[in-house]
This record gives sequence, C-alpha cells and structure tokens, in this order.
Amino acid sequence: MKHQTLYQSDILSTSQFTKEDIEVIIERTRQMQELVQTKGASDLLHGKLMTALFYEPSSRTFGSFIASMQRLGGGFIPLQGVVYSSVAKGETLEDTVRTFASYSDVIVVRHPEVGAADIAAAATEKPVINAGDGTGEHPTQALLDFYTIHNHFGSLSGLTITFVGDMLNGRTIHSLSTLLRLYRPKKINFVSPPELMIPKEFVTVLNDQGIVTQETAVLNDVLSDTDVLYVTRVQKERFTDLKTYERLKHRFIINRGIMGKLKKSAILMHPLPRVGEIAPDVDTDPRALYLREQMQNGMYVRMALLSLVLKK
Ligand code: NCD
Repeated sequence: MKHQTLYQSDILSTSQFTKEDIEVIIERTRQMQELVQTKGASDLLHGKLMTALFYEPSSRTFGSFIASMQRLGGGFIPLQGVVYSSVAKGETLEDTVRTFASYSDVIVVRHPEVGAADIAAAATEKPVINAGDGTGEHPTQALLDFYTIHNHFGSLSGLTITFVGDMLNGRTIHSLSTLLRLYRPKKINFVSPPELMIPKEFVTVLNDQGIVTQETAVLNDVLSDTDVLYVTRVQKERFTDLKTYERLKHRFIINRGIMGKLKKSAILMHPLPRVGEIAPDVDTDPRALYLREQMQNGMYVRMALLSLVLKK
C-alpha cells in the first residue's frame, strides 16, 4: 500500500516526514493541480467532513483548506474567530477538539501556542493537521513552499536558499528549513536582526545532515549567490514590547534595488501576509512568485494532503 504512511495520520511537524512521504505528496499535488486546471473539481472526498478550528487570524490557510475540501466534494465546519464558540466560555482545546472530532473526519487547527496541535492530536483518534501553532511550526505551508521551489527548479540540489526576516518567530521558516534537511541544497542562509536569529536547534538539524548554513544580519553578504529569496514579516503578535517590533519591522525591505542584485534565475517568495517587507513595484518582476504560483500551490498541496489523509 503505497500511501499507507499518511492515511489517517496527523500532520504536525515537517520533522515527521520521510523523503518518500514528500515524493508521494508532490506526486499527488501534481495530480490535484491538473484536476483543478482541467475539471475544476471531483467527488473524491464526498461524504467526508473537515473541521477548520482557527484560534488565530488566517486568510490563505483557512481559505485554501475550505476550498480544497469543496473542490474534492467534501464538507466543512468553519470555526474562525473562536471567540463566538464555547471557547469564549472557557472550554479547553481538548474538549473542543473532541466535540468536532465526533462530527467530522479531520480537524485542522491553528492556535497561538506552541504544541497546541500535538495536544489536539492527543485528544482524538481522528487525524489532526497543524495549520500553525504559535511560533512553532506550519507544516502545510512548508509543503506548498517546497512544492513551489521543486516545481520551479526541478530539484533542490545545488540551490542556495536565503531566509530573510523574523527567524525566531517565523513558523513557516522553522517548518521549511526542517523539511530541507531531506534534500541537498548547496547552502541555507538565515538573515535577521541579531534579536530575531534562528533558534539553534533548526540549524543543528541541517548541519547534522551535512548542509552548510550561515547566519547573518547583512543581506548583501549573501544576496548575489541566492537562488531562492524567502522573505517573512516580523511577527508583531509575538512581541511583548511593541517598541522593539517597531524598531525591527522594516530592517529588510525588498525593493527594485535589491532585486537588481539578485540572480536573473532566482525566485522571490513570501508566505504572506506582507506588511511592507516587499515593495509593491516588485510584484511585476517575473521572479516574484508569492502572488502567483506560491499562493495557488497552497490549495493544490492541501487538496493532496486531505486526499491522502482521508482516503486509502
Ligand atoms: C504565515 C503564518 O501564519 O505563519 N501565514 C500563512 O499561513 N501564509 C506567515 C505569517 O503570518 O507571517
């Protein structure tokens, strides 16, 4: 049984994946992309129900999970802004999860606390998908980012990938860099103000696999060698001191000047939302993928994951 590893599995962290899992997900994502582009929809998940339990703001992750379920003929319970549910009366995450697990076949959770998805997964037999747990991980974003890079270059080997922005709090970086341990990129750069450096454990995972890394506060040091420039916003909601946020938020701004120093063959990515880190006049640069492929791939990857988790 080829896809058995993901059937009924929780998707909590990219550290859980093997290279074979990723190959299966990539292959299925390609099929989903083709399905949407040729037929638009199917009834593969007819009779299946997803709960989207979102305790934090979301546009793309929430919207693309819902769209994915609908395109595959399934249904959904959308819980966004749980301030309107019994959570506002003080219900625990576990009880809320147990409730919706009794109505639906898969629970997608976004929550402000690290480890919340693991707590949700422990509360139910039904598969739980982590849609972002605080400053922890965001594995489905990493998969769509990976698919975008892989699709563009055909392979990861030999690439220099540069992450810029909030390495400390950016869960998309934590998940994607951990996923990259399975491949052979030439080098991974982490560019941030000293206050927002990548936690050591994420670097160790890469170095243990023989992947070269560099941490720097100077984007110019690594720009000309970069193949993938992955920009993130400084995560305002994780700061207790807003003065520090204001001081750091626009340390790196990607504008046409910066793009001029980047290889012609490079790509520019951002998980979005952006709040000033990429100037709008960069959007029309053919290397800018964040409003095009990267965004569209979110739905294809989530369709692939839902189909693998819910169908044998
Ligand atoms: C990211 C997130 O929620 O971590 N957004 C997303 O899902 N595309 C990135 C962010 O909020 O900065």
